[in-house]
Amino acid sequence: MALSEFLASLDNLAEQARAAFASADSSESLEAARIDYLGAKSGQVRKVQQGLGKVDKADKPTAGKRFNEVKNLIEAALAEATQQIGTGNEEITEPFDVTLPGRPTRVGHLHPITQTIREMKDIMGRLGFTAVEGPEIEDDWHNFEALNIPLSHPARDPLDNFYLATAEKLEKPLLLRSQTSTVQIRVMENTPPPVRIISLGRVYRPDTADATHYPMFHQIEGLLIDRGVTMADLKSVLRLFCQSYFGGEDKVHVRFRPSFFPFTEPSVEVDMNWQGGWMEMGGAGMVDPNVLRAVGYDPEEVTGFAFGLGVERICMRQHGITDIRALYQNDVRFLEQF
Ligand code: PHE
Repeated sequence: MALSEFLASLDNLAEQARAAFASADSSESLEAARIDYLGAKSGQVRKVQQGLGKVDKADKPTAGKRFNEVKNLIEAALAEATQQIGTGNEEITEPFDVTLPGRPTRVGHLHPITQTIREMKDIMGRLGFTAVEGPEIEDDWHNFEALNIPLSHPARDPLDNFYLATAEKLEKPLLLRSQTSTVQIRVMENTPPPVRIISLGRVYRPDTADATHYPMFHQIEGLLIDRGVTMADLKSVLRLFCQSYFGGEDKVHVRFRPSFFPFTEPSVEVDMNWQGGWMEMGGAGMVDPNVLRAVGYDPEEVTGFAFGLGVERICMRQHGITDIRALYQNDVRFLEQF
């Protein structure tokens, strides 16, 4: 065979193979084209190689050299086409630097309010208070009646409460609890004294959201009932609680201001001083004898104190958060700071 004829068949082969690889649109059709051209036994390249034997002896080195070049070209064209299509197992075929650091997984953490709640449970647990829970949908008895809040009391105003649209609305209204004091009643109804509990949970009031109000917030309720409990016990427990939470015995002060709640007598507002500013924490007082009677306790036998503090306020004061809404906007850039 003349050299020129052999070289022409090589060029032709390269051209066709390149076109076949380039037009393959799946890894299956590319594989078929690969077998067609580069198949070891009867591929076209192999066939052309066999023609090499018929080339004149003197031309063999030139023909052989060109054959190898063309074969390399065809293999390169296949590699390029393979990369473009993807083989379905790139992990294996693509270069991969195993020394690269892995992509870090973003690990979340507890919401600041949850952290506050856990810390409070810890502290009160060490003071001997057991954490209990109550339902967020409450009835009239537990949210009002048993807490000495009579039918005519303004605290029952529909404008101040989330009443649920139930069928028996008039006789037995249901509402989203407006205070965790409901849990005092539930516990005392089911446990003979002494009682020493806290309850931490959500409460709901139809307030327009602003920097210091939100229609849902959390309270920590405390209740201690025993023989001979006094206001001094109440103040000691609240002072220990605040000092443990904010740290440092001489840096935290608690003061009481006279107040009124239907379910405590006497009643106080609790303020706390930390780092120079007084802050209102919530309400407290000695459990009203009417409440003790409502749950079947004898006010001549036992007395007790109760308190209800705002969890958000304490958390915000601790971290210097100035807008309660930030706690509930779920902005990770804010939340990940705590
Ligand atoms: N329940 C009252 C409130 O939500 C707080 C409180 C609790 C007051 C217990 C006295 C005793 O404002």
